[in-house]
Amino acid sequence: HLDSINCFTQCLWIFKKKPKDKSTNNHTYSPPSNVVCLPRTNQLESLLTIIRDENTNREDFIFCSDRIIRLLVEEGNEVNGVSFNGKICGVSIMRAGEAMEKVLRVRIGKILIQRDEETAQPKLYYSKLPPGIEDRYVLLLDPMLATGGSVIKAIEVLMSHGVKEDKILFLNLIAAPEGIQAVTSKYSKLKIITGFIDQKLNEKKFILPGLGDFGKPV
Ligand code: URA
Repeated sequence: HLDSINCFTQCLWIFKKKPKDKSTNNHTYSPPSNVVCLPRTNQLESLLTIIRDENTNREDFIFCSDRIIRLLVEEGNEVNGVSFNGKICGVSIMRAGEAMEKVLRVRIGKILIQRDEETAQPKLYYSKLPPGIEDRYVLLLDPMLATGGSVIKAIEVLMSHGVKEDKILFLNLIAAPEGIQAVTSKYSKLKIITGFIDQKLNEKKFILPGLGDFGKPV
């Protein structure tokens, strides 16, 4: 069990072995200017190493991913300045995005998007958005940005409810260049705040090296 962040991260800094190729940032890809990647601190690298490790237990996975989500939210505050506070809400893309909700102390909405079996396109199945969302900044939550299909659909839903594109911040732990390109080529005014940009997608559209299926019960 991990007692405190400080003790925990200090121990990791001392004892941590350098990860092999798992945490190497993707230096060959430079994202567009509306993408903010968390600074590569020792703490972030340690947290990512733990959540990528298939031997990490559920409790530690949740502890470490929550810590990264907090860093993403703090980075969002930093990027948007003080006026941002008080006028925000969160919207999670179900189901994986729901794991990011508890770190936020704001009103939360939900969007469920799934692949339509006939068209293979992302389809909206359910949405419940906070009242007055059109006047708020929206922290859109989904831990893994893979192809970008679901988040593009979610952004369409938000904008059809009057949310301005430049008031959307999409927070995710790990992003693939393919997903970043898909989202930013359509939307250049919103912001993507990510923990790490990985190398690519595999043939099953999973992020490499990624962390496998974020929502899979351990
Ligand atoms: N969702 C996941 O959980 N993992 C990926 O790599 C891509 C999407």
